[in-house]
Amino acid sequence: MHSRRALLYMPGDNWKMITKAVTLGVDSICMDMEDGTAVNKKAEARTTIAKALRELDFGASEKLARINSIGSGWEQDDIEAVLPYRPDGIVIPKVESYDHVEWAGKIIEDTELKHGWQVNSIRILIGVETAKGILNLKEIASHPRLDAIIFGGEDFAASIGATRTKDAIELMYARQAVLVACAANDLQAIDIVTIDYKDLESLRVEAEQGAGLGFSGKQAIHPNQVPVVQEAFTPSDEAVAYAKKIVETFEASQKEGRGAYSLDGKMIDMPLLKNAQKVLSRAKAAGK
Ligand code: COA
Ligand code: MG
Repeated sequence: MHSRRALLYMPGDNWKMITKAVTLGVDSICMDMEDGTAVNKKAEARTTIAKALRELDFGASEKLARINSIGSGWEQDDIEAVLPYRPDGIVIPKVESYDHVEWAGKIIEDTELKHGWQVNSIRILIGVETAKGILNLKEIASHPRLDAIIFGGEDFAASIGATRTKDAIELMYARQAVLVACAANDLQAIDIVTIDYKDLESLRVEAEQGAGLGFSGKQAIHPNQVPVVQEAFTPSDEAVAYAKKIVETFEASQKEGRGAYSLDGKMIDMPLLKNAQKVLSRAKAAGK
């Protein structure tokens, strides 16, 4: 799976921002037709995204296009406008049921077959960011075409009538519901946007909190946020060294017939090994 520590959005009609995004070395670039794009710019966003997919070199960055939500009336034209130019993935916002994913999966598969592209090569990422979406996570997250669930904090707060606060306690239940659904289905979980994009210190705190909770990445809306987010979701040298030490000593301890043992004054057993292996696979995915 593509590493998605930072997923940067920009309005799909904004050619300048798209051309900037491809220079940033960001893991994922998400050209938006939904809420980042004004109602009178939806058509322009479609053609601009198609042009970007056709003409720009995205380097190692993943090319994503976010369509409007299912039921908006725009979703069909959105997906049809961009799919022929072979994005790496489609992002569907405000998903509330398994059928929403199925709808996109069917269209994508038809396109893959029509062009002779490998089936499942275009990935689906979904936003789950409404009360209904959180309630139906169990079914939604089981869809076989999914790669990742993106949790939209602002949309969710609006959906339940919560006031957003800096420490985001009003979102904790839903964030953890998304995390659990992702872990159970081997999906990436992508955390909330920090909309106060000038405050990079708060961003760092929130990104580290998200990484600590178990998210694999975070949404970003401004170029300055990208390095801060990517760093927070890359295990530190120290964490990698400690994880390696656990993996090595665990094996020796098992051979000696001990399931639990002591390392640097701490108890180590199976769950700590599993966590250490996760740290190492994240470091590897981040190119470390
Ligand atoms: N992606 C790529 N480039 C971006 C960018 C983004 N999301 N946001 C800003 N830039 C570029 C600007 O074009 C500008 O480029 P330049 O230096 O070549 O002129 C540079 O980064 C600095 O931008 P800045 O002036 O600090 O920001 P702004 O005031 O122009 O825009 C926002 C601020 C928040 C309106 C803008 O960052 C934005 O639109 N972000 C994305 C919002 C979005 O997509 N929301 C929907 C999903 S949640
Ligand atoms: Mg949203």
